Amino acid sequence: MTRFTLSSPLDMHLHLREGDMLELVAPLSARPFAGAVVMPNLVEPVNSRDKLVRYREAIYDAIGDELFIPWMTLFFRNYSEAELAEVKDDIIGVKLYPAGITTNSEAGVSNLHDIESTLTLMQEMHIPLLVHGESSGFVLDREKEFLEVYAQLAKAYPQLTIIMEHITTRDAVELLDQYENLYATITLHHLLITLNDVAGGLLAPHLFCKPIAKRPEDRDALAQAALSGHPKVMFGSDSAPHPVHKKECSGCAAGVFTAPLALPMLTGWFEQHGALDNLQDFISGNAQRIYKITPPEKIITLVKEPWQVPGKYGNVVPFAAGQELPWRMINQ
Ligand code: DOR
Ligand code: ZN
Repeated sequence: MTRFTLSSPLDMHLHLREGDMLELVAPLSARPFAGAVVMPNLVEPVNSRDKLVRYREAIYDAIGDELFIPWMTLFFRNYSEAELAEVKDDIIGVKLYPAGITTNSEAGVSNLHDIESTLTLMQEMHIPLLVHGESSGFVLDREKEFLEVYAQLAKAYPQLTIIMEHITTRDAVELLDQYENLYATITLHHLLITLNDVAGGLLAPHLFCKPIAKRPEDRDALAQAALSGHPKVMFGSDSAPHPVHKKECSGCAAGVFTAPLALPMLTGWFEQHGALDNLQDFISGNAQRIYKITPPEKIITLVKEPWQVPGKYGNVVPFAAGQELPWRMINQ
């Protein structure tokens, strides 16, 4: 039987939610992954050390005894030096959302000029900045319009590690090579789908997310970066569960739920493109180097046997629901 192993896979962008949803989805990431960067956009944003410690406790309760590190992020606001010093050892970075751009981001940043002091502190204290990089312009142009902001930040804060989260365009891939301190995460779904899959036929609510999937040439550029083992890109699923009644309705919530199938699907896709040798770097090696982290040792074994993605996990419909994949994880 053909086997493939991954060493300490990491998900560098994950939404775990809270309450019942946390209980449902946390084990589905904690089993296949050795750790994940946990996003702070709860209904009440994680924007203080107290909230962060409570949230981390809830996550540990929900994952049981799986070997899994939740690397925590704070929701960006202006923090004092004392606040950052107090929380520095508990966080992997601070996540900046432009105000109102996506789920639970109303408390995000409205004016980038107001945040210079916090960015200066983060640069001095070596705290990475994670960014949801979209303007509020025309939906297909939002990421492209934001690239100017990334360039300004990269220039103004050359020692600040800046992660362009869930990039979706060729232009973003190209920007990576222009500034030493810019890095990126790429999701599974943005490697696979374009806007046609979302809205080209019958509307597909389970593929609707922010940033919206773009053009074939954008997807090709993302694929090329991931498959070639580009040293500045990391896997970040942006797995973002919403209950089915918030997806299959008028006013569909943005988010694609991929955590439980990400590793089998990525393995099949890298294999199909003759690039399996580069998956380890995309799924773990690059992130370890960029963030200077050492995850727990955890070997995940996949076997080449058909596996059907469940139609639902609890009240959440996953990406590729019901589809048969060529690889499955052992002990899934
Ligand atoms: O599609 C998305 N869903 N994009 C985001 O940026 C947030 C996420 C969520 O939290 O649901
Ligand atoms: Zn996200």
